[in-house]
Amino acid sequence: MPTHLTAPMVRARKGSDHPLVMVTAYDAPTARVADGAEVDLILVGDSVAMVVLGYDDTLHVTVDDLVHHTAAVARARPRPMIVADLPWMSYHTGRADAVRNAARLIRAGAQAVKLEGGRKRVPVVEAIADAEIPVMGHLGLTPQSFHTMGGFKVQGKDLDAAKALVDDAHALAEAGCFAIVLEGIPDVVAHLITESIPVPTIGIGAGPHCDGQVLVFHDVLGFDDRTQPKFVRQYANLKVDAISALRAWAADVRSGAFPSDAETYHLTGDLAGALATA
Ligand code: KIV
Repeated sequence: MPTHLTAPMVRARKGSDHPLVMVTAYDAPTARVADGAEVDLILVGDSVAMVVLGYDDTLHVTVDDLVHHTAAVARARPRPMIVADLPWMSYHTGRADAVRNAARLIRAGAQAVKLEGGRKRVPVVEAIADAEIPVMGHLGLTPQSFHTMGGFKVQGKDLDAAKALVDDAHALAEAGCFAIVLEGIPDVVAHLITESIPVPTIGIGAGPHCDGQVLVFHDVLGFDDRTQPKFVRQYANLKVDAISALRAWAADVRSGAFPSDAETYHLTGDLAGALATA
């Protein structure tokens, strides 16, 4: 696997037989796991708000938070390309703010940034791309629009909404996005978008016809208690395993079985004796 897939390499995977695989990671150990699994891209998502920091939505994380988590991921030096989320209100206040905040994420170790929204984001996408920073788009169920959508709801379910999503995807691709995440939309709409735009689509709850798929690390590995959307496929139950491992350790501590002699540092015989009689 090459070190660091680049934005042009991701773009060149459009329509290829090798779907892009992206998973979120938020710190060095999760980045090392994603690297070990040889995924193509790591997303330092603003989902960190919900799966790591305990918030009910993604609106509570700031650029400082994303910089902190992106730097932790980057310190693991993972081979997958690192994409960092621009959080809510980091690009809604104008092009200069958007470029400045995108640059902070790049300096923290990301190779690209992602932002949410359609045609109305074209000016900021162009500004960030003009600053030589690769930008990934994100359409459909965009969690930063939680309040205006009236909750985490599947989008693009009627003809007008579906057409608007197709137009949004074209606008983002033309503005310079090198790939677009499609989240929580019907499969036919995702298929239509995927077939009609020149950059890869990466789906989450958007069916099988995208150029790639993304899931949240904690969802795939069963590290979370939250009710999962139907698009999540869980491949492990690490929360159950972790609880049972900690229970076993606690039982060993309480019974005196931990630590063993082999898990203990010793002084050499003479010093131990001298200390005992001192
Ligand atoms: O923050 C995130 O995890 C995301 C994915 C759901 C695409 O944006």
